[in-house]
Amino acid sequence: MILTFAEEAAAAVRTRLPGSPRVAIILGSGLADFAGNLADPVTVSYGDIPHYPQPTVPGHVGRLVYGTADGLPVIAARGRFHYYEGHSLETVTLPVRLFARLGVESIILTNAAGCVCPGWNEGDLMLITGHLDYTFIESAADPEIISGEPYHPPQLLDLARQVAGENGISIREGVYAWCLGPAFETPAEIREIRALGGHAAGMSTVPEIRAAAEEGLKVLGISCLTNYAAGMRDQPLNHKEVLDTGRRAKDTFARLVLGVLERMGIEEL
Ligand code: HPA
Repeated sequence: MILTFAEEAAAAVRTRLPGSPRVAIILGSGLADFAGNLADPVTVSYGDIPHYPQPTVPGHVGRLVYGTADGLPVIAARGRFHYYEGHSLETVTLPVRLFARLGVESIILTNAAGCVCPGWNEGDLMLITGHLDYTFIESAADPEIISGEPYHPPQLLDLARQVAGENGISIREGVYAWCLGPAFETPAEIREIRALGGHAAGMSTVPEIRAAAEEGLKVLGISCLTNYAAGMRDQPLNHKEVLDTGRRAKDTFARLVLGVLERMGIEEL
């Protein structure tokens, strides 16, 4: 059923696009402005896509933006669907299935996340080299770190490292822990995530990583560490801080992602 939905959604989007995207990018909280970097933009609002729900989170504007970066056709999603909003995992991953049906080869998944590492800084960007499912939806057992192919292909991670190095962008690397939300985690949960090997805590992306791998897409995950995770600092967390830090990091984020897109175009990834 969901594959039919994805096909119908893709058919509707396809008729509105002047070309076929090769790379998709899902923009996380505070990072949606990145779409403004695409040349010759064409937008499709989520309301015009069959089977798409409307996003409910402030900072998530519901539209797709198609355009080019250094000539490479890209489709960007401003606004994603979260499991904590009450959507099924099928709905959460519908955009990834749609992009696969539009013919994209690679997908860049971005998010805002809480920083679990004491020595790192707010606003740091982190390449996702592995993930942990800390939702306990599938199992009550301690989650294990999933890394390597097909979820975190070393080829794309290397490409991102090179782009960062060449452009003087300092990036972290680490494990993203998917937490249920919508509340921020407790300090005890954050301590456990750190003990399990996590570096960042967030409420999205892992279902999208899984669906993208299933669809045979190459995935690159990037987190913007917008705040210290619960219990790591005295002040309480809030969503505004997440959006504000995301906006402050947006120029570095844009340079990194535009560099990655440029290389993807050159290297036919
Ligand atoms: N926890 C979970 N998700 C988040 C956080 C956090 O601290 N910051 C941004 N998204």
